[in-house]
Amino acid sequence: MQLAATREQLWDGLRAWRSAGLTTALVPTMGNLHAGHLALVAAAHEHADRVITSIYVNPTQFGEGEDFERYPRTPDEDLGELEAAGCNMVFMPDGDTMYPRGLTDSTRVTAAPSLSNILEGASRPGHFDGVVTVVARLFNLVGPDVAVFGEKDYQQLLVIRRLAEDLGYPIRIVAVPVIRGDGGLALSSRNRYLDAGQRQVAEQLNGVLALAADRLALSSADPCVVARDARRSLEQAGLAVDYVAVRRADDLSEPDPCDTDLRILAAVRCGSTRLIDNMPCRTT
Ligand code: PAF
Repeated sequence: MQLAATREQLWDGLRAWRSAGLTTALVPTMGNLHAGHLALVAAAHEHADRVITSIYVNPTQFGEGEDFERYPRTPDEDLGELEAAGCNMVFMPDGDTMYPRGLTDSTRVTAAPSLSNILEGASRPGHFDGVVTVVARLFNLVGPDVAVFGEKDYQQLLVIRRLAEDLGYPIRIVAVPVIRGDGGLALSSRNRYLDAGQRQVAEQLNGVLALAADRLALSSADPCVVARDARRSLEQAGLAVDYVAVRRADDLSEPDPCDTDLRILAAVRCGSTRLIDNMPCRTT
């Protein structure tokens, strides 16, 4: 497995692959890898000859008071996991490599407002602008054929699909379903902030969303009523609800009665830890 820290090291490695006619899949991450990330690497192997994983905790997607400083950084463990998963190259840039002119005077990308100002974007203003800014930089630096993202961050996935479409990146975006732990909690680097008691409470999130998705799929229940009931169940479980919403799966707009491809999405706080989850829901 090759390790690239600078742009030159990255481009040297990529040049060799390109001249051998090999296709490339990029898996962007912020490190602290778990089975969810490794599922992205496995999917990447199915779509390209070579897999490159980037590890970079991107400051521009964290808001004031968020956990940028304490976000878990575990580079040695990550490299071991990636080697075992057959990853071909790891790009681990520092801040100067990603933002050579610093953060205050750097070129930024703005995410599509209709997708980025709602739900996560309403709670975390500027978050998706930071995400598309760093993802555009990664797309430009790596120039992959395919890029792989998890459905765990469903809104992020749609925002990045729009980025690729709007800016004309010739990159196929591949989505990988949410990977869950034994209790059903969606795997996330932030789960490590939970103590054992909080984890049990957090595990209710998956069950409540699954019940709501079933209710929508099996009856002609009003999505607003289903979301309201899900919110009540989450609050009763001891979670502080930021939002629960049933939206159209393709653009996260409010669903019409004739829409059949829906997604239920939620963000909650368990203690001081913010958790997000979502589930697909097909109505008939
Ligand atoms: O999903 C993440 O880990 C990050 O938002 C991403 C896509 C790597 C951009 O920093």
